[in-house]
Amino acid sequence: MSDVIIGHSGPVTTLTLNRPEKMNAITRSMYKSLADGLNQAAIDQSVSVVVIQSNGDHFTGGNDISDFLNNPPLEEGSEVWQFIKAAHEFPKVLIAATQGNAVGIGATMIMHCDFAYSAPTTRFRMPFVNLGLVPEFGSSFLFPKSMGHRRAAELLLMGREFTAHEALEWGMINEVADDARARAHEVASIVAEQPPNALMQAKQLMKSPDHEKLNVIMKAEGELFQAALTSDEATSAFMNFLMRKGQ
Ligand code: COA
Repeated sequence: MSDVIIGHSGPVTTLTLNRPEKMNAITRSMYKSLADGLNQAAIDQSVSVVVIQSNGDHFTGGNDISDFLNNPPLEEGSEVWQFIKAAHEFPKVLIAATQGNAVGIGATMIMHCDFAYSAPTTRFRMPFVNLGLVPEFGSSFLFPKSMGHRRAAELLLMGREFTAHEALEWGMINEVADDARARAHEVASIVAEQPPNALMQAKQLMKSPDHEKLNVIMKAEGELFQAALTSDEATSAFMNFLMRKGQ
């Protein structure tokens, strides 16, 4: 079974992270599958909505740390960059459903979704600085913009874990739902009934004020992130994690 399952049901495409034995940590090949799934949905006229979800108890442990160490992934054109670009440019509706740990890009990707639903078990965390890295995927802009600098500083500079209820209070998700996947698909079905062109145009209008700004910010983040990946600070943090787990 693939590490990313791509499913189709009428106008709704579902991208399911399927590596639960590794807490759905995302490898380069998984980013490629996610990017391909989004790009395909973007040009498929029969698709209006994509749901991103995960199998198992956790949404994702974030970028695979072995890849961070052995196969540093953020240069322009890399698989993670393809995913970031595909999500940023995605013209249709994007919905996320989370449960359990939602770490790193598992939290930052939520800011690129139009709707997000989280089970009460969800624990978000963005430990970029803790790992000797910098925030990615526009998060250094989107989090302060959404919740204010001081709240975002707790999350991005301290790497403080936060709950689904906090994410709701701070405007990051739509609802805390016991069955987040079911709720995401319920909303996907409702949204998919909207006239598709009006849906895309409305989304584009909502996103356009920050679209180019985000391109510049994500490029700057990417350059710093790429350089940090091979720094002594980051290498030692990755080694600590992998040695702790005996990988
Ligand atoms: N990369 C690679 N493997 C990961 C991973 C990641 N980002 N996140 C989890 N895993 C793997 C673990 O190595 C473990 O595999 P193993 O049983 O073969 O050793 C499995 O998933 C379960 O994780 P485990 O650490 O045992 O669960 P836990 O409940 O003790 O801890 C976390 C959960 C999220 C706190 C911990 O897994 C963690 O810190 N992961 C890394 C998070 C991270 O820093 N991601 C990068 C963000 S930029």
